[in-house]
Amino acid sequence: MSREEKMGSWFADARFGMFIHWGIYAVPGRGEWVRMQEQIPQDEYAKFAGQFNPTKYDSYAWALLAKEAGMKYMVLTTRHHDGFCLFDSQTTDFTAPKTAAKRDLIAEYVRGCRKTGLKVGFYYSLGNWQFDALFKHTAKGPQKDPKGWAAMVDQTHAQLRELCSNYGKIDLLWYDGGWGTAKDWRAKELNATVRSLQPQILINNRSNLPEDFDTPEQHLTASKPGRMWESCMTMNCHWGYFEADHEWKSTKQLVHNITACAAGAGNYLLNVGPKPDGSIPLESAKRLREIGEWMKVNGPAIYASQRCPLDSGTAGVFTQKGNKLYLIVHWWPGETLTLPKVPMEIKSASLLATRENVAFRRDGKRLVLTGLPKASPDPRSTVIVLERRTRATA
Ligand code: GLC
Repeated sequence: MSREEKMGSWFADARFGMFIHWGIYAVPGRGEWVRMQEQIPQDEYAKFAGQFNPTKYDSYAWALLAKEAGMKYMVLTTRHHDGFCLFDSQTTDFTAPKTAAKRDLIAEYVRGCRKTGLKVGFYYSLGNWQFDALFKHTAKGPQKDPKGWAAMVDQTHAQLRELCSNYGKIDLLWYDGGWGTAKDWRAKELNATVRSLQPQILINNRSNLPEDFDTPEQHLTASKPGRMWESCMTMNCHWGYFEADHEWKSTKQLVHNITACAAGAGNYLLNVGPKPDGSIPLESAKRLREIGEWMKVNGPAIYASQRCPLDSGTAGVFTQKGNKLYLIVHWWPGETLTLPKVPMEIKSASLLATRENVAFRRDGKRLVLTGLPKASPDPRSTVIVLERRTRATA
């Protein structure tokens, strides 16, 4: 039995999760790379920790919103490249509990996820810009500053032991910031430790080892069949809260992205960047609720769906489950929709949302759906279910 079958079935079926980039970089509100991009010295940057007091942070409300959107899991930045920990750590004082927030934001997060039944994911940046060996890595790095680099890696290992020991069961570990090689991070040893503490955990591919799943970033590219994968994407253009970024993707586009992932049997990890007070920007919350309305109706075409080899032409994408083929129409063609090649026998066709039957006829290898509404009944995407004739249904 593969690892996927053994432990990853929840992930293989989940299709939709919430990524959350949150840390003291939300205070200046210019994205999570602000320290590097503006070359802010550490003592100056650390002042944001003194202003990071998220009085509106309610992890349960976050989890409820994720659930309403149709998401099955959440992944929160326990620490990003800046090294600021949202959790309590014995390795550093640069943490939320030891600065203005005075709270273990990760303990609260885990409770919020659990209360709603969502799976718990930890994002963790292997690299930490507090160490010059990384911050100035072009000048330094593991070869030029082996001592500094080793100190950083030791801290990383120690913090991951804390994260995997202090918060109960963790379902997923999402590494990032692993500049260099697996050897530079002692990644084999690290992942063995993580798995010994969390035997059920799924680990992404960013420790420079393949582990359990691939992580295409800002694009929707399926891995080979049999390999789990998840596309992560921003809802505007940045991960961390960026006050001036108003380039929001439309709900329709986001729905199309979920369906494109589902068509490749992958997941869509959609990001929100909460404000420093812990509230999720209204633009994000609005889109999540709208996506949720669509998912509520069309979930059967998405969750636990499989790849379907049928060609939808330019109409959209196909998924399948059992004897049902789901045609998810992105570009509604009008009253007639012709599928170029449907080799299997089709017993019935209907609209998923209303169960209304759709008339169809065979034209050689083509299947022609007729008498459809002139415009897409759902402006975001309408799903048509084709039921295959199997022996049992014949
Ligand atoms: C990149 C960025 C980072 C972001 C991540 C999400 O690696 O460095 O800021 O967290 O992508 O996938």
